[in-house]
Amino acid sequence: MGLVRLYGRHGDIIFPMGIRILPPEVVARIAAGEVVTSPAAVVKELIENALDAGATRIEVEIRRGGVDLIRVKDDGTGIPADEVRLAFQRHATSKLAVGSRPTAADLGRIVTLGFRGEALAAIAQAADVTLISRTRSDPAGRFIRLAAGNVLEEGSRPAAPGTVVTVRNLFAHLPARRRFLRDPRVEAAEVAQVVGRFALAYPEVEFKFLSEGRVRLQTAGDGQLRSAAAEVWGDSVARQLIEAGRVVEPGRLAVTGLVGPPALHRPTRNELAVFVNRRWVQNRRLYAAFEAAYVGVIPAGRHPVGVINLLLDPSEVDVNVHPAKLEVRFVYENEVLTALRQTVREALKAQGYVPDLELAGAADGAQLAFGLEPAASHPDGPGRLPRLRVIGQFEGKFILAEGPDGLYVFDQHVVHERVLYDAFRRALAAGQVETQGLLDPVAVELAVHEAALLAAPDARLKLEAAGFIFENFGPDAVLVRGVPALFAGSADPTALFKEAVAAISAAAEGGAAGSWEHRLAARLACRRAVKAGDPLTERDMQDLIDRLESAELVSTCPHGRHIFRRLPSQYLASAFGRA
Ligand SMILES: Nc1ncnc2c1ncn2[C@@H]1O[C@H](COP(=O)(O)OP(=O)(O)OP(=O)(O)O)[C@@H](O)[C@H]1O
Ligand SMILES: [Mg+2]
Repeated sequence: MGLVRLYGRHGDIIFPMGIRILPPEVVARIAAGEVVTSPAAVVKELIENALDAGATRIEVEIRRGGVDLIRVKDDGTGIPADEVRLAFQRHATSKLAVGSRPTAADLGRIVTLGFRGEALAAIAQAADVTLISRTRSDPAGRFIRLAAGNVLEEGSRPAAPGTVVTVRNLFAHLPARRRFLRDPRVEAAEVAQVVGRFALAYPEVEFKFLSEGRVRLQTAGDGQLRSAAAEVWGDSVARQLIEAGRVVEPGRLAVTGLVGPPALHRPTRNELAVFVNRRWVQNRRLYAAFEAAYVGVIPAGRHPVGVINLLLDPSEVDVNVHPAKLEVRFVYENEVLTALRQTVREALKAQGYVPDLELAGAADGAQLAFGLEPAASHPDGPGRLPRLRVIGQFEGKFILAEGPDGLYVFDQHVVHERVLYDAFRRALAAGQVETQGLLDPVAVELAVHEAALLAAPDARLKLEAAGFIFENFGPDAVLVRGVPALFAGSADPTALFKEAVAAISAAAEGGAAGSWEHRLAARLACRRAVKAGDPLTERDMQDLIDRLESAELVSTCPHGRHIFRRLPSQYLASAFGRA
């Protein structure tokens, strides 16, 4: 019985399973085709086997680009002595189904890297292969030597637990394929690329790669993605990488990884890796989604740097669509692509590499709109604005200001609304709302429901607390003598009074829309605030911004609209190629 470790979403599951030949109906459903097309493909298959065997240390050695020699050594579970020969048979695998006979349905939830039982057989067809393997319970190792698929030698050999596969004279017996081999340096570079990707996908595994006797890559296996990235891409790249991560639905879809800042762009996608359940894949659309996060901040034709692992419920991914397992299909592809793009974009945004401007999606505004008490939803986290210097007014609607970290654009109406709202709420809470008496008291006609509301003493007390002074004026009217000073200004006293009554009446009807204080303050602030198109002097504007700086929450207006948007300095710099 071989021991196989499965990398599932529930962590590593180890359970015993023997190698056996798959039934024909399963074989027929396995994507057929060439498994072994290059040295890199051989290395990939052998590393996958080592990982499936739960290895913690994997050493890969090649000579002449892998054509003369490929050796992959692991400290995994090993193959039981009596299964070593079977491992080289086609469609012999220990990885499908548990306990019972494998069924075609098992292909629908693959959690190991291998599942076809093809790789060793294909490699043995294409080269001279020796394998030595020992399980922890076997006293000695088992040795086997094959050429052109035939077993030449088999026996017992002393060996450490684990497996060593040695592949020599790749394609020696297959001249057609040998002709397609490229320059050994090109093949070696491709092998290095493959080992590097595994090192990034499995930071907890120690990888060592030697080519022509020289160590080209060695990772610590400390489980830290950043330290693996430092070995694969170099320290300076690794230091600049930004954490990206998001759990879309626990156990079903999550995105994690490290992504480069926009300034770190490359002519190829060689330093961009996307894994699906830790399997490297080459689906174009995944890379396009990754790169879509950099639109507008990376020059056209250049590629970002980064590593992303998509963790999905295995039943929502089909890995059985490509002979070399390099493509996968998703049950919910759009959801996966969107999650990928958004996670990367958010990571860039959090660092100020892309403008906050787009945060203003109608959706997030709408959620907060009307009624919810303002919450700590500052796009850069709760906090105050930095010191800002007003530059001027734009289109009669916006205030432009310079901050230490970028250019700020304020909606003048929303700023004013926010300032008035805060001041009023503070005064109301302290019981110190100032009233401005009207020189000419105003008679306000009441609608039936307004009159009904004002019949209740509670409503009258609220209006008085809010700074209104009024008295009955016949059965269906009141005479307003004073209004809250904050909102007086140019606002029409009748409209102010009616707004206040409406706010109290709406709050009395209940719902999740907030307290009467909030509603009243929000409505009156909106009425009184400067409008789009109102000309403002530089002084007015600086005064508004200064008052906003002392407000407690500055990201949204009482209705939930955004008060400002920031164009980060880094964004402007990279937009002009000054990064
Ligand atoms: N390094 C290894 N350590 C332990 N067992 C191994 C190792 N390499 C191969 N095996 C055993 O040999 C079997 C056959 O390996 P092979 O790579 O041919 O098929 P597979 O991994 O099952 O499927 P696939 O063709 O998709 O890779 C495996 O199922 C596994 O039981
Ligand atoms: Mg395999």
